[in-house]
Amino acid sequence: MSRRKIIAGNWKMNETPTEAKALVELLKPLVNNPDVDVVYGVPAIDITTVVEAVKGTNVQVAAENMYFEEKGAYTGEISPAMLVDAGVKYVILGHSERRGYFHETSEEINKKILKCFEHGLTPIMCCGESLEQREQGITMDWIRQQVKVGFQHVTADQAKTAVIAYEPIWAIGTGKTATADQAEEVCKGIRDCIAEIYDTDTAEAIRIQYGGSMKAANCKELLAKPDIDGGLIGGASLKAEFAEIVNYNK
Ligand code: PGA
Repeated sequence: MSRRKIIAGNWKMNETPTEAKALVELLKPLVNNPDVDVVYGVPAIDITTVVEAVKGTNVQVAAENMYFEEKGAYTGEISPAMLVDAGVKYVILGHSERRGYFHETSEEINKKILKCFEHGLTPIMCCGESLEQREQGITMDWIRQQVKVGFQHVTADQAKTAVIAYEPIWAIGTGKTATADQAEEVCKGIRDCIAEIYDTDTAEAIRIQYGGSMKAANCKELLAKPDIDGGLIGGASLKAEFAEIVNYNK
């Protein structure tokens, strides 16, 4: 089966609303590749501006986080209904920066993933090992645990529409990309794990991205691998280079 590629930017804590508008305008004429789903993951305060600015294009907008309650006394949090109403389609969940700096657990990420599906949002669940874990030889054990806990109570039909981003922590923002073979090995391992939890149909349908210093210079090799269905791009999503990644097959 052929899966559609999904190239998503993860802007992290960058771009004021004014800067966000300018970035979208810069990228607008460059990112229309009909073979690829293009997503901008943007800070909450930029969502309204970016949703407005991408109107009439093929670009969808992702939030970088979301809370798992419907509404109420959770100062500072953003609900699924707020994101849907604002025009968001995807939510990046469980990024290693959120797991690390903000102590998010796989159990919390699981609750957020379930809420996404309740509200028609597509989760992009991040997973990935530290350098220490890779050196200890426990990369796949760790990632299988992140995936299994993250997908608890998610149905096969829901899982088919989900996105998983494999992001080795040692490759994020360091300029040290995983080799295409290293990335493929783990992405295939994730697909095998999904097949074990569900079935081969689900494993064949779910999309798995690689993230971690993906850039114009290395994206072709990574995206040519059979189990890498796209990229989650940090640094390179903030400049015109992002369009080169989106147009990797041109
Ligand atoms: P990077 O970030 O492309 O800057 O390494 C990727 C990510 O954290 O999603």
